This record gives sequence, C-alpha cells and structure tokens, in this order.
Amino acid sequence: MNVHDSERVAGTLVAHGYAAVETMQEAGLILFNTCSIRDKAAQKVFDRLANTKALAKQGKQFGVLGCVAQAEGEAIFQRAPHVSLVAGSASYPKLPELIAQLEAGERRVSGLGEAADEAFETELTRRDHPFRAFVTMIEGCDKHCAYCVVPYTRGKERSRTSAGILREVAQLVELGYTEVQLLGQNVNSYHDPSPAGFDFAVLLAAVGEVPGLRRVRYTTSHPRDFTPSIVEAMGRNPVLCDHVHLPVQSGSNAVLRQMRRGYTRERYLEIIAAIRRCARPLAVTTDIIVGFPGETDADLEQTLELMREVRYSGAFIFKYSPRPHTEAQAWEDSIPDAVKTERLMVLQRRQQELQLAENQAFVGQTIEIMVEAFHPKLGQWAGRSSSNRVVNFVAAGAAPSASVPAGLNILGQAPPPPPSGTLAPGAYCQVLIEKAGPNSFVGRQA
Ligand code: 5AD
Ligand code: SF4
Repeated sequence: MNVHDSERVAGTLVAHGYAAVETMQEAGLILFNTCSIRDKAAQKVFDRLANTKALAKQGKQFGVLGCVAQAEGEAIFQRAPHVSLVAGSASYPKLPELIAQLEAGERRVSGLGEAADEAFETELTRRDHPFRAFVTMIEGCDKHCAYCVVPYTRGKERSRTSAGILREVAQLVELGYTEVQLLGQNVNSYHDPSPAGFDFAVLLAAVGEVPGLRRVRYTTSHPRDFTPSIVEAMGRNPVLCDHVHLPVQSGSNAVLRQMRRGYTRERYLEIIAAIRRCARPLAVTTDIIVGFPGETDADLEQTLELMREVRYSGAFIFKYSPRPHTEAQAWEDSIPDAVKTERLMVLQRRQQELQLAENQAFVGQTIEIMVEAFHPKLGQWAGRSSSNRVVNFVAAGAAPSASVPAGLNILGQAPPPPPSGTLAPGAYCQVLIEKAGPNSFVGRQA
C-alpha cells in the first residue's frame, strides 16, 4: 500500500509538470513517504532526515508524507526544522497546491485532513512495477485492534465503487499488465457504495473475469470478515491466485481478546479448514505479533501450536511496539525487549522448519512462474508462482545452479533488461522444481 501511495504521489506530481530524479543531489524537493506501524519504521524517517541537514542548507526542501506525517502532524516541524511540508495520505490530491504554496514563498505547509476520497479515482499513477499493478479497493480501517495505529493514520473505512475498480483493472490490462494486486487494510469488509452493492467475493470474482488478466492477488484479509464465498470464488477461477494472507496475530485466546481482534483461535481454525477445502490447494501466510502486553510463555506455546496446525507457507513475525493513539499504549509494555527478541526467534525458527518441510513436497513438480528478473551473477531467472513463492531457475538448456540464494527479495525492483530474447520480465513459463529451500526454490525451465 505504501509503495502504491508513492506511485500515486509521483504520478500526480509528474502530471503537474514535475520530474522525478534519481538522487537527492539532483532534487529541488525531497519527499519521504513514511510508515508508522511500528516505532522502528517511524524512527527511520527522523534518522534519515537528520542526515539531510547539509542538503537543506543548499536550499533543497523536504516533505514528510504518509502515516508518520498523519500521526505526528505539525510536531514534525519542531523535531526536524528543515522540513517544510507535512501531508497524510488523504491529502495527496492536494499536494500540487501545497507545493505551489512553497514555491510562492510560504515557509511551512501541511495537509492533515481526512478528506473524502477523490484520491481513489486518480489516474495519475506512475506505475513503478513493469508487470504487476496495484489497485486500491478500500482505504482505512474500522477495526481498532488495541495495538494498531492504522485506523488513526488512514482514517475510517471507505470503499471504492466496483465500477471504478473494474474500469481501472480493464485499463491496466490494455496497458499490458497481466497481474493486479487489490489493496486494502481489510479487503474483506469491502462494501460497494454504488447500487450494484458488490461484496468482496463478488468483486473478486468480477475482477477475475476481466479478459486478458492472468493473475489477481489481494491483501490484506481480516479473519472476522473472511467468508466461505471468497474461497468458493477462488476455487472457481484459477486467475485468482492460490494465496490467502490471513493475519492471526496470536494463537492464544487470551491475547486475541486483549488485542480486540474479534475472533477466537477456534473460529480462526474453522476459516483455515474452509480454505483447505478449496477446489485447489491455497498457500496461507500470516502476520504474528510477539510480546504483546501480558503475553505468557503458555500463550506463545499456543501460537507455536497453531503454526504447526495451520502450516503457514510464510509468516511475518513482529515484536510488539507501543504506538501513539492506540488503546494498548496506555498499558504497560510488560515484556522486556530481550524476551520479545527471544520469542521472535523461536517463532521464526519454527516457521523456517515448517516452510522447508512444506517446500520439499514441491520438488519434482512443474509450476507456472511469472518471470520478474534476471540475476546475471547467478545466471538465474527469478519469478513467482501463483502462490507467491519465489522460484529461481535456469532457462531451458543452461546448466543448473547448485545453491538456493538466501533471502531473495525482488518485489518492487525494476528488473534489469533480459539477456536473451526468449525470457523476459512479465513472461510466463513452466518451471520444474529441482531443489527447495525454506524461502525459495531452484528449478529449470520445463
Ligand atoms: N506492533 C507490532 N506489530 C504491529 N503490527 C501492527 N501494529 C503493530 C504494533 N503496534 C503488525 C500486525 C499487522 C502488520 C501489518 O503489522 O501484525 O498485521
Ligand atoms: Fe490495524 Fe487491526 Fe485494522 Fe489491521 S484490522 S489495520 S491490525 S486495526
């Protein structure tokens, strides 16, 4: 979502005659798009800003966008006095106006309102990914989980009309995109504001029917609003990718209750059972928070047990971080950081073991990959399966590579030009899986 916000900002500014440059040295205005989901992410922007004072002396101007801007507001001007623009995501359509005010000589400008979303229907998006396009379908969140700053920074839930979403998807296909990723903090609570009245499952099915589209992803789901009709839609149409990201946060009912997640471990496992009954296998990934106030070793054990039961294909595991404006901020952050780190490592180890075991079952199978990049040093192509697994592979005829590269993450990077005409980023091909690691596969073009 953050990457897509940057695309929208860049598109809006380019349409107003500005140009993006490669380095801060070349820029007149430097905008930081920020995240405040955890304290570490929020601190990063102030560290980065502290390193830019010399550039400010050269007359360059600085702006802070995104959730840190929304959460900290004009206090940013005190903390980083060389910043002259602060704007939250709902104010992006107003950015050209705010920048014009700076150009007219105003020292400081801000956009921190919760606008009704003209932002949705902007066509002014600079797509930074050559083959996958993001499409916002719902903004904001009404859930108020006790730890989460998002309802504060992104505001109330606003769904975009189904016609607007379908129009954008069709335009993207015309531009040559074959994969779209539908975005929202909580896509399942989508409610079409137009008379068509689509719910998420109906919308997902409709997007999957857009001619020319090969892959549709969506993120993020909330267990509370996840309906069997979503699984049914996925089972009917293989264009809808074999992947569900379903954050659980904890396997302990006591912690889930404290977190105000609105479901129990048992209810979550029922949803997983429904997903496992899908007409084809779906990869399930999750988010987990460790060290939430009051979390005991027994609670952690419940989470470990749940991980074993669900067999996640991937998990993002985070240390709890108290956030401003949240309910949990008032509670004592009772788990020491060293214990949080220990718990994080225990869960990560478990997850890596589970992934390795699961991935080994793919050796010998042939799966369809969308090519994303070529890594000249490795002599390998890289791409993703429909289930979002990273696959590194050699083109048909080339010698196989022996090792699985660790921690490869190519999402969001523009791929280098292909060395041969046969495979290229954005192409689809069949790959025979020869080796499996916990995080990726090695194979050869079939
Ligand atoms: N501390 C740690 N992790 C958090 N997340 C959200 N808020 C916090 C917080 N205060 C995690 C949740 C969410 C993911 C996007 O970030 O796991 O699903
Ligand atoms: Fe945050 Fe909970 Fe909303 Fe997700 S559902 S964005 S964790 S408040």
